[in-house]
Amino acid sequence: MADLKSDTLIAKLRDPDSSVTEQQPAYAQNPNRSIKLEYLVVIGICTHLGCSPTYVKENDPHDLGSDWIGGFFCPCHGSFFDLAGRVFSGVPAPTNLVVPPHTYLSDTRILVGVDQDKGAA
Ligand code: FES
Repeated sequence: MADLKSDTLIAKLRDPDSSVTEQQPAYAQNPNRSIKLEYLVVIGICTHLGCSPTYVKENDPHDLGSDWIGGFFCPCHGSFFDLAGRVFSGVPAPTNLVVPPHTYLSDTRILVGVDQDKGAA
């Protein structure tokens, strides 16, 4: 699993601590921006002008540099996001990708649109 807390990565991010609170619920304001470390729930719309970033895995044939650990790339104007949807510095996108309200109904079911602390019937 990629180290989303590494100093090398953190130094490249515009908002590594998810301080723009509108971009995620409080329960996702952590390095992984998630409730469960193994899953990211994020809206796949670039925060620049609304294109769809695509997942680019580690060591992908794209030339994203030898230190690329995987993440999301928006080809429209060249914005990059890490595996937690945090935006890199120096790209057009102004903020991290949006983590919507969501809750886990079980280990295999998720409900998007309802906050974790509100639960579901
Ligand atoms: S819409 Fe994603 S970089 Fe412009």
